Amino acid sequence: MAEEAILGFLEKNDEIRDSGEFAAERGIEHNEIVNVIKSLHGFRYVDAQDIKRETWVLTDEGETYATVGSPEVQLFLAIPQEGISKEELQKKLDPSLFKIGCAQAAKNKWVEMGKQLISRKVQHVDDKVKDLLLQIQQGLNIGSDEIKALKVRKLIIPQTWKGYSLKRGPNYAPKRKKVVTDLTRDNFQSGEWKELEFKEYNYSAKGAPLEGGNLHPLLKVRAQLKQIFLCMGFEEMPTNNFVESSFWNFDALFQPQQHPARDSHDTFFLETPSTTKILPEDYVQRVKHVHESGGYGSRGYAYDWKREEANKNLLRTHTTAVSSRMLYQLAQKPFAPKKYFSIDRVFRNEAVDRTHLAEFHQIEGLVCDRGLTLCDLIGILHDFFSRLGMTKLKFKPAYNPYTEPSMEIFSYHEGFKKWVEIGNSGMFRPEMLQPMGLPEDVQVIAWGLSLERPTMILYGIDNIRDLFGHKVFLGDNYEDGLISILN
Ligand code: PHE
Repeated sequence: MAEEAILGFLEKNDEIRDSGEFAAERGIEHNEIVNVIKSLHGFRYVDAQDIKRETWVLTDEGETYATVGSPEVQLFLAIPQEGISKEELQKKLDPSLFKIGCAQAAKNKWVEMGKQLISRKVQHVDDKVKDLLLQIQQGLNIGSDEIKALKVRKLIIPQTWKGYSLKRGPNYAPKRKKVVTDLTRDNFQSGEWKELEFKEYNYSAKGAPLEGGNLHPLLKVRAQLKQIFLCMGFEEMPTNNFVESSFWNFDALFQPQQHPARDSHDTFFLETPSTTKILPEDYVQRVKHVHESGGYGSRGYAYDWKREEANKNLLRTHTTAVSSRMLYQLAQKPFAPKKYFSIDRVFRNEAVDRTHLAEFHQIEGLVCDRGLTLCDLIGILHDFFSRLGMTKLKFKPAYNPYTEPSMEIFSYHEGFKKWVEIGNSGMFRPEMLQPMGLPEDVQVIAWGLSLERPTMILYGIDNIRDLFGHKVFLGDNYEDGLISILN
């Protein structure tokens, strides 16, 4: 109401001279008007100038007289027609009231202060003091002599009154436009956003204070797994390149170029830079040869291997791309056995659902030594997974282009009362290792699993989007330790 009154008035008039008068004329509380002015001024609907006025307010004593009457009138009314002795009159009135009343009534020549008797000198008196006090209470102006008299009697004190004078501001409009804070789906679709006025961002607003930090569940589990690998004497491989060439991701792993995983439906290929520039040329030739016509006891795939296909850059689909680089490097030096691991991110062009994301983390371990067998692989898998609390393991024959034999790894989950697939493993093929230049009697046993799967089981998460992305709850009420829950 106050806002409509102000904006409406300024539509027809150039200014509001005094917010106090404006409020009084309309019967609106001045406080209410002031609040509206502050807000309108903030949004520059109006320009407000401060105005100050000295006004008078009643003291406590003044307030009392404004209600019950001045002491002189009270005293006058206490004197009967026939007069009264001082003692009798004193009994009727409060001592300070008697004192002030006598002084003022005598000054006004209302009473006769005889030795025996106090009597009325006039028949009727008006309570001018009370009337003046009431007028001041209502904010009315009174004469300066009267003000002086009341001030001397300490019935009123000065007070500064603050108000405003108003003019139209640069954003003036007869009606305030609603400013919105958010662009919503609805106003975007309806086109309404074009008309809307948006609230400006307050970049200096302070956010809620942070109580403390929490580690992401994936990071916690990753730290535990890293610890397990380190305890088992494994070295971490450098995985700091998400972009990889098809060569290291597929070709070096003896994965044929027409393999469905190399389709853009399964793999993210890069547009820029779309190809790799540097590959070890003599090794590339050996890889081409083994794909096309085999060698090392293999018949190969008998197809036309294309360099352009190997050059294509992609987001690595597995950390085995890193393993192939590392094994190639190892083969360039006199042979020494190695145990390597990595835990990092990989990318697949998959439909996203409750259990699948287009990116996730892989855990990968490999042992490279002379004369390793499938029994060594089974043994090390038992060792590794029992450290995660998974003691009952089963293996199922599987197929990977780069391992032979290959085994899927299952663990019995006591909670779910069933066998769950937890990883994949195998012995790298001679078609992969021999072109690298590793000695013929060197075998590599390796396994891989996702980081998300054990973490989801551990934290009882059944939707991967609660584990990965912006919806992850980073509270501290998760239980720590893989061992307890994976069983
Ligand atoms: N690279 C495999 C995968 O992406 C995992 C694996 C690693 C399998 C090492 C065998 C050996 O699933």
